Amino acid sequence: MLPNSRCPSRSRVGLVAVLVGFFFILPGTLTGRDATLPSESPGAQVPNEPGGVEGPGNRTGRDVPECGRYQESELVEALRAEMETVFAETPGMVDHTMTVYQHAMDIHEVEGGDPEVVAASALLHDIGIPRAREVHGSSAGPFQEMEGPPICREILTRLAFPPEGIALVCGIVANHHTAHDSDIVSTMEFRILWDADWLVNFPRSHRDSTGEEKERAIQEIFRTARGREMAEQFFLH
Ligand SMILES: [Fe+2]
Repeated sequence: MLPNSRCPSRSRVGLVAVLVGFFFILPGTLTGRDATLPSESPGAQVPNEPGGVEGPGNRTGRDVPECGRYQESELVEALRAEMETVFAETPGMVDHTMTVYQHAMDIHEVEGGDPEVVAASALLHDIGIPRAREVHGSSAGPFQEMEGPPICREILTRLAFPPEGIALVCGIVANHHTAHDSDIVSTMEFRILWDADWLVNFPRSHRDSTGEEKERAIQEIFRTARGREMAEQFFLH
């Protein structure tokens, strides 16, 4: 288990070994893209619906990253399949999620945190969007935060994810727009998911900002040193 983890040791040693093992073969960073915004964070604009992806590295742009950039584990494969099923009608959300996942693992490599919680949080963070639309007629952040965790819990329980890990992943999903629970928000795993999502969403939310405004927003928004550094590389140079 890596530093800053809130989860106990796992019996799935092989899985962890694979997850940890692939961090040694990571290539360089990815380009940012956008979709849903963390809606109540500093400087965020708040769309009710996730947008199409329009930055570099998306379906309408160039080189959409694939999960195969990492050596995948059984867990990551299973979570990816669950996510793809939920977003079967919205392939743009699959792209968004996979880019967030890859950014999250890049940040995790430097910052630590529990790799399984980071991976699960990234792959499931927007999973409540279709149900939010169905139930509330909107995928606004608070509705996602309400509808996402029960779906996460069902999926992770079915995949025999450890109970403490399930609680943390659900907590992260329940905070990923409003960051309202300080116990969750202070965890490294939450900070990583937050930054990874913002790396994708920042171009759209700050498309009309000046360089100075972007610089200030990056300092206010990003919660890990590595996430901030990546944002500066992507958006200021
Ligand atoms: Fe997202």
